[in-house]
Amino acid sequence: MKSVPCKFFSALLLSATLAASAADDGLEIMSLGTTNTMVRVMKPSKYLILPIEERMADAQIDVLVDGNIATTFYARLANNDVDYTVPFDLTPYTSCGQVILNIVTENDRATSREAADFVCWDEMSLSNEFDTKNREKYRPAFHHTPLYGWMNDPNGMFYKDGLWHLYFQYNPYGSKWQNMTWGHSTSSDLVHWTQQPNAIEPNGIGSVFSGSCVVDHENTAGFGKEEVIAIFTSAGVSQVQSLAHSSDNGQTFKIYPGSPIITTEREARDPNMFWNEQTQKWNLVLAGALDHEVLFFSSSNLKEWTLESKFGQGYAGQDGVWECPDLIKLPIKGTKKEKWVLIVNINPGGPFGGSATQYFVGDFDGHKFTCDNAVNETRWMDYGKDHYATVTWSNAPGNRHTAIAWMSNWQYANEVPTMQFRSANSLPRDLELFRAPDGDLYLSVTPAKEVDSLRGEKLSYDATNVEDAPVSFNLPTANDGICEINLGYNIKGTQYLHVTLSNDKGEKVEMTYDVRKRTFRMNRQESGLVKFSRHFPTTTVAPTLTNGNEGSLRLYIDRCSIEAFDGDGRFAMTNLVFPTIPYTKMTVAAEGGKAKITGLDIYSINCK
Ligand code: FRU
Repeated sequence: MKSVPCKFFSALLLSATLAASAADDGLEIMSLGTTNTMVRVMKPSKYLILPIEERMADAQIDVLVDGNIATTFYARLANNDVDYTVPFDLTPYTSCGQVILNIVTENDRATSREAADFVCWDEMSLSNEFDTKNREKYRPAFHHTPLYGWMNDPNGMFYKDGLWHLYFQYNPYGSKWQNMTWGHSTSSDLVHWTQQPNAIEPNGIGSVFSGSCVVDHENTAGFGKEEVIAIFTSAGVSQVQSLAHSSDNGQTFKIYPGSPIITTEREARDPNMFWNEQTQKWNLVLAGALDHEVLFFSSSNLKEWTLESKFGQGYAGQDGVWECPDLIKLPIKGTKKEKWVLIVNINPGGPFGGSATQYFVGDFDGHKFTCDNAVNETRWMDYGKDHYATVTWSNAPGNRHTAIAWMSNWQYANEVPTMQFRSANSLPRDLELFRAPDGDLYLSVTPAKEVDSLRGEKLSYDATNVEDAPVSFNLPTANDGICEINLGYNIKGTQYLHVTLSNDKGEKVEMTYDVRKRTFRMNRQESGLVKFSRHFPTTTVAPTLTNGNEGSLRLYIDRCSIEAFDGDGRFAMTNLVFPTIPYTKMTVAAEGGKAKITGLDIYSINCK
């Protein structure tokens, strides 16, 4: 707790005598009619604990310090029942003066008496602690999640001095989208994450939407060598691009007073920048959201940017807004060559509805992106329904291009059956390019090698033939059955190969290789809880992009997700699942002939 000036205590005594009814819990609740309530904080405490009921509308909360608005945020304060609580950190405010929350609720049909009776006024409390212990059965064991609150896009990721930094679109005041802030987590191994204090909070220009960070090794921006520079979208009345910089390795950021640094007449967001070795300049890509295009900028100092060109209108997925672009140069497997890949996330318009990540292969000369793909062709980075806002880490060691996605879909992200937190990230994935049998270049997506370090006990099975009678394997029981499965197969003699995960309640996820169509599909229609959104029960399909019959499938099963990867990186498929009890069994069966399991390893996963 920061020191509190004396004036604060004397003012507290005065208000305490005037409002004796509320003095003992340190909060004075002033009911001001049907939609307005003021809450005076009368006891120095770290947190004001706010009771939330998700079905209520957001209340607007102005935090007044000595009568001035210090900050504004929104929370779904509980009227009838408390779903969970969230903490509002008072320390930056109570150290400056007297704090009053001026709260406007939207319950215009309530009488004054009903409004004064909302459960939130009774349950609001002061505390020096907030319990973040997990209360969720569906909280992933080996995927990044916020301790509490809502998360969407991964943001501003960079690597520096042995630490991977992951920022994310965060609502600290509830588990639905709101109050966009850059949450922050760090990891030394890409798989164990520690949540840090929030890094960038909304300010007068707007809330803090997606963006990127770079390490300014050569002090091009003038804030100092090795300064971490963030450029992000400030979303207020309009969307403009702001700059913030950090001299403590991304823990805290100062807003550059010259912000906004890029403004556009049309809605544009999610700036993503990188150092271009070829031109010795910075480049930045910005999503022209409604125009379905990407804007390309260049700069020598990260503060002043020149618009170089635009790409995208008429290309590929045009059904939804274009968001969260990234531009990277990737090696082509088996060659010494490289090609540029432009990642563009799109919502809606994904292959199975809602949001998804598309990409374009081409060239970039620092000014202009030239696309190799046909105008009407869409390439997807992942063929599941729950893979969005994917971008890569800046400054990653060994010239790696490591990406991470938000593992959800805007169609139902706010409704998934968790409460304490909502949404996880995908596993981190390394990106390269490979040439498919059609002669074209496609993204190769493989789980980052660090994921292997999670492997626990291994069960290996010998090669075996499979026909239409399913061959059954038990899944590990530890930690609710979370596991990694590596299944080698030969599907030459069959039409279909079915790989099914199931539990004793008959909930199942069926995955199928269709040998003739050269596809892999995953059906989660009977996977467990599916009714929370009509968009959830689906089957997703990926092209396998191979003519071969032998290969392997890698599956990562966490408490609410299945990530399927072709063993050679030719496709990835990420889908959420909410089984009411863990899947305990995997069966493998051939249909229309004979297939072979060429090897099977099932690893339990070591988690904290
Ligand atoms: C993508 C997105 C971004 C925006 C952010 C807001 O999911 O819509 O375009 O910056 O989320 O949270």
